[in-house]
Amino acid sequence: MSIADFQPAIWTNSSNSALKISLVSDNAIQFSPVFTYPVYGDSEQIFGYQDLVIHLAFDSITFKPFVNVKYSARLDEGSDDAEGKLLSCLPKDDVVLKDEAKWVDCFQKERETYKLPSQDCLIDEYVLDGETFAVYQTKVTDPSTEKLHRRIQIFSLLFIEAASYIDQDDPNWEIFWLFNKENKQCIGYATTYKLWHYTGSADFDKPENIKYRARISQFIILPPYQGKGHGSHLYEALFSHWIKDASVTEVTVEDPNENFDDLRDRKDLQRLYESHFFNQMPKDGEVSQEWIESNRAKYKIEKRQFNRLVEMIMMHTNS
Ligand code: ACO
Repeated sequence: MSIADFQPAIWTNSSNSALKISLVSDNAIQFSPVFTYPVYGDSEQIFGYQDLVIHLAFDSITFKPFVNVKYSARLDEGSDDAEGKLLSCLPKDDVVLKDEAKWVDCFQKERETYKLPSQDCLIDEYVLDGETFAVYQTKVTDPSTEKLHRRIQIFSLLFIEAASYIDQDDPNWEIFWLFNKENKQCIGYATTYKLWHYTGSADFDKPENIKYRARISQFIILPPYQGKGHGSHLYEALFSHWIKDASVTEVTVEDPNENFDDLRDRKDLQRLYESHFFNQMPKDGEVSQEWIESNRAKYKIEKRQFNRLVEMIMMHTNS
């Protein structure tokens, strides 16, 4: 070894670049994570390896996970545990390590009995480019999707800033799943929670009148399926479902990012436009708080978002 071989820089790898995620069907689609700090720490670096590549692959239907860590050299002492840190975020005793043939055998066997959630959980369907997609709602504790959720939840850590794992034992968490109905591939999901909304003592005394705020916590379309309209369909399916649910007073979103805000604005504006709300704007441009509150409540849109939408509509109608 030369003195250059002891420079820390040559043993330091960016975890965002080293981690390669694949979704495998007839072919494999590979992509990189956006965030790896929940797995490898705030600096998003892995020390102690040269030419480090961490393959994290999933079967695109069952999401059976596979991990294979490769490198050309590893320091005998002081190197990070690149494999162990990743495994700690994946379901225990479920990951196939290094043996690709064994992994393929495992997921092919699982596929033989793999089922989508039951029809009772189906809340929406749509056709896109000739294929049928379906949205199902299950509790996080539901045995039909529990295993899938344990496997897929790492996508929230790797693609949504500040995401953390939800409590797998709390049945108040509900997941809205988006599947390709024909080949059973999971396209994306949203984790949601209903928070009790105190609407006054009169309602509080009658359990049948208890109201909730529905909150979207994590919303993701898996990278190979983004930019095709699936996110818009999933959001609309959630919203329509809650509009019909008399116990839900409004829909809120936890820490939306710019891309989600964009999608939400487009879909909320479209819904308001289709229900002729644009024509109901006060003609003199004066909007009272009462008017805002009654319309906001009618469309179940949270206050800040509704104010933004009204402003956008006013700018549009006055331009
Ligand atoms: N062909 C081409 N483009 C289309 C089509 C189509 N058929 N349909 C929609 N588009 C365009 C839309 O116009 C939109 O364009 P724009 O961004 O220029 O406005 C764009 O594609 C995205 O719209 P969708 O396809 O409906 O959205 P997508 O399925 O990509 O989902 C999302 C958006 C959820 C943000 C996705 O990119 C994602 O999961 N990102 C990673 C995770 C993430 O950031 N999640 C949100 C975090 S915030 C939270 O969780 C609360």
